[in-house]
Amino acid sequence: MDGNGRWAKSRGLPRIEGHRRGVETVRRTIEAANDFGIEYLTLYAFSVENWKRPEEEVGALMNLLDHFLRKETKTLIKNRVRLRTIGRTEDLPPKVRRELDRTVAATAEFTEHTLVLALNYGSRTEVLDAARAYAAGVAEGRIDPDDLSWESFARHLYTADLPDPDLVIRTSGETRVSNFLLLQAAYAEFVFLPIYWPDFGREEFAEALHEFNRRERRFGRTGDQLVAVASGSGTS
Ligand code: IPE
Ligand code: MG
Repeated sequence: MDGNGRWAKSRGLPRIEGHRRGVETVRRTIEAANDFGIEYLTLYAFSVENWKRPEEEVGALMNLLDHFLRKETKTLIKNRVRLRTIGRTEDLPPKVRRELDRTVAATAEFTEHTLVLALNYGSRTEVLDAARAYAAGVAEGRIDPDDLSWESFARHLYTADLPDPDLVIRTSGETRVSNFLLLQAAYAEFVFLPIYWPDFGREEFAEALHEFNRRERRFGRTGDQLVAVASGSGTS
């Protein structure tokens, strides 16, 4: 979700106004994802690097998150959306943590749609946290390092019980990944949109999904192999 600041600046408004509009886009996007039948929607809301922003902006983002959770929990329940988080949420302000815990608990039973908020998230931090948890398991004799595999290691990531993303959309025209789900997005398709996050609407979302559907996902195979598998003549 990139470009709130530039959206505001281009209108002569304070950055925080861009973030406010960004929250409206979040609301709209959750609703659209539900309508499009998307089971898992992950929003990169606050990165481990975002603490470097001016204190006033960080505070404003935390307040918006707090208000969003207070206001939207009802809607999430109504639409049967489960809330999950990834990231070091323990370092968020206590009032935000409280609201998160409340909303996560209130929506835990839903299985149709999952909204994942990446909060105080960074892929490198996630790998460090996973490596630490893995090493602790080895030290305690619960884990045999000879059994190390991607699956056994990935169980220690924040995303242990979440599927890998199929599609990653970044708005604002920047074409970088910025420490987002680096390992999980190993085979994801990327769509970079030249619009600011507040301008991302249902139509732009649908268009990104169409673009995704046009892509050929090979997962390391050749295009001919995929044709063979699809027509039932493939053997492996
Ligand atoms: C939103 O956009 C991203 C968040 C951290 C919430 P930005 O705040 O990064 O907007 P730009 O990139 O400065 O335009
Ligand atoms: Mg940005």
